[in-house]
Amino acid sequence: MTRAQPARNKNFDEIPLAQRSKAVRTNDLITRKIVFTTFLLVGTFTLFFGTNLLSIRDYFYKQIGLERQIDDDRLLGHYPYPEAISEDLRTIYPGLQVHKDTYTALLNMRAAAERDGIYLIFLSGYRSIDLQKEIFYDNKSLRNQVAVERARVSAPPGYSEHSTGYAIDIGDATMRYTDFEVEFEQTPAFRWLQENAARYHFILSFPKGNSQKVSYEPWHWRFEGTVEALEQFKKANQQLFSEISNID
Ligand code: DAL
Ligand code: ZN
Repeated sequence: MTRAQPARNKNFDEIPLAQRSKAVRTNDLITRKIVFTTFLLVGTFTLFFGTNLLSIRDYFYKQIGLERQIDDDRLLGHYPYPEAISEDLRTIYPGLQVHKDTYTALLNMRAAAERDGIYLIFLSGYRSIDLQKEIFYDNKSLRNQVAVERARVSAPPGYSEHSTGYAIDIGDATMRYTDFEVEFEQTPAFRWLQENAARYHFILSFPKGNSQKVSYEPWHWRFEGTVEALEQFKKANQQLFSEISNID
């Protein structure tokens, strides 16, 4: 009885017997060369450009008008913030509390402004996560806004700088109609803050065109005059830090 022969590739059968193993060996050699060259190229590229790969990717994204999706814990542009503990809070007006370090700096700043004939008024300071929940969801519902729209002007609960006790909304006591309005930027109080707030360790959190995509808020300042405060705003400052580093 003859054993069944395995089906053979027709083309293979057409190769003369003497050349078959050579042809197979040649193909094998070419494959190895391709694999080796690919590894060599990828290895060399990674070695020389490894540390710059992210910026190369960002460069190409920018060319095609895409912004890189940043893998962080932001929610609708806002960073997460813990609630200040009650022992750290001080009352600046009835119903308005701030972190004790912010408190001292605010009193000093207000007194200095007054000496220059400028009258600052504090509008909103520490907000519990529960209060932020009311502000975010009640106003969102009242204004018929979806969360993405609402987040342009108000942080979701657990994501507001106000919960830390280091954020303060400031108005001009002589022009109250500009409270929480972009027009506040035209007041003497805002101009004074622009020139002097850094002396008291305050920075404008949401300037025009900020990287968090929050609406411009000339009234909202945060205190960064201690390491504890700076640590809270580490992530928010990262972008600012890289922009400043690029200038040098
Ligand atoms: N208005 C700012 C974004 C806040 O709600 O914290
Ligand atoms: Zn604010």
